[in-house]
Amino acid sequence: MNFHTRKWVKPEDLNPNGTLFGGSLLRWIDEEAAIYAISQLGNQRVVTKFMSEINFVSSARQGDIIELGITATHFGRSSITLRAEVRNKITRKSILTVEKMVFVNLNEQGESAPHGRTQIRYADELFEAYRRDGGAVEAPKVSGDDLLEEAAEEAAH
Ligand SMILES: CC(C)(COP(=O)(O)OP(=O)(O)OC[C@H]1O[C@@H](n2cnc3c(N)ncnc32)[C@H](O)[C@@H]1OP(=O)(O)O)[C@@H](O)C(=O)NCCC(=O)NCCS
Repeated sequence: MNFHTRKWVKPEDLNPNGTLFGGSLLRWIDEEAAIYAISQLGNQRVVTKFMSEINFVSSARQGDIIELGITATHFGRSSITLRAEVRNKITRKSILTVEKMVFVNLNEQGESAPHGRTQIRYADELFEAYRRDGGAVEAPKVSGDDLLEEAAEEAAH
């Protein structure tokens, strides 16, 4: 599992108990997982379909640096299943786990559509094939520095 994104727990992220608010954490992990699914499927039209139970393993406090990890566990016809974990960057203590997050690939009509992917793709194979074949190979439909940076990080891990 690659831990791409780091967050610094700030006062606005806290619950009344003074620890990290679960809603903030879920927002971050849903966004992180969506970006991962978009990168893997090469399509920006991807939606969250299902999340299994969420285990808030331990709390995080103001000033903590946490990191968000995602990996693909299954490629379906139109879906991709991910596993997520959040941990303290320094101590590596687990903060949250989600065993199953299902994202669905959509067509322009907003219906589920086959994505044709069967395994995790890394930036080097994705972009090397694209460069080698001069653009003849299907390129990712997403663009932007953030996604390229994430893909590069994926390759580096
Ligand atoms: C995503 C959506 C188009 C799927 O519609 P649908 O009629 O369920 O589509 P399908 O029956 O073709 O199922 C699509 C895929 O989801 C999977 N799926 C459906 N229900 C599921 C569930 N409860 N748990 C896990 N996977 C599920 C199916 O197995 C299928 O996967 P596969 O093609 O890899 O085999 C529709 O449910 C939807 O628009 N939901 C709202 C999404 C949303 O707004 N999310 C929040 C904002 S991002």
